[in-house]
Amino acid sequence: MLDIQPVNPTLGANVSGVDLRKPLSPADRDAIEAALVEYGVLFFRKQDITPEQHIAFARQFGELDVPPLQTKYSANPEMTVLDQDSPKGEGADEWHSDNTFAAIPPMGSVLRAVMIPPLGGDTCWANMHAAYDALSGPLRRMVDELSAVHDITKPMRKAIAAGHSVESLADIQAQWPPVVHPVARTHPVTKKKALFVNGNSTTQLVGMSERESETILRLLIDHVRDPLFQVRFSWDLHSMAFWDNRSVQHYAVPDYDQRRIMNRVTIVGDRPY
Ligand code: OGA
Ligand code: MN
Repeated sequence: MLDIQPVNPTLGANVSGVDLRKPLSPADRDAIEAALVEYGVLFFRKQDITPEQHIAFARQFGELDVPPLQTKYSANPEMTVLDQDSPKGEGADEWHSDNTFAAIPPMGSVLRAVMIPPLGGDTCWANMHAAYDALSGPLRRMVDELSAVHDITKPMRKAIAAGHSVESLADIQAQWPPVVHPVARTHPVTKKKALFVNGNSTTQLVGMSERESETILRLLIDHVRDPLFQVRFSWDLHSMAFWDNRSVQHYAVPDYDQRRIMNRVTIVGDRPY
């Protein structure tokens, strides 16, 4: 029987009693979707499933995204394969939510551990509603009025430099021009606000001088670093994490030097407002 247990008061829940090789019952699907919104990130262990079953699991929660950063080893356009052994500076080791450089960033991501180093390679998530709520009143009021530019250039440069992408920067930039998103986005289900800037893709606050933008954006980007908003997950082989990309950020701890392979599928979201 499906069992969902929160792991701390701020975010994260362990989900057990479900076999992801098979389609979910309607009741389990709905319970998982509700838990995703409530807890921000869901952890599943011992899901020895195929890439096709991984894709089929994600598809039960919406149409799948085809990510712009196609990785070299991906056999399926919907699946991103993260294959790393020197993760420092490669992109996921900076707090972010996925693909915010897109006009419509993903609703959620489903990540599965396919090969893990003997030690290290944990992932952290942060609840960006909690981060927003922790801002002081005056700063929150300012944030409510701000919007920011998100740009694919920096993550794409990192992917190319690390040898993870074979695509041309110019082609990708032409295909994914910079977009503007609110700095505090409203969750479409709960209507709660979440801080929505990140160090990977957010480059500028709209309507501010360069000096203002640099200082205030840095403050808002670094706000996520408070452990009060976070949960940390230690992967086993065949563990999975499913996060709400609208309300949480994540960070891959780059503390290993043996091979780590993760498969990721993202689900289409809606335009942030
Ligand atoms: C991702 C990502 C983190 C990790 O797949 O989007 O950031 O721990 N992964 O591999
Ligand atoms: Mn990511």
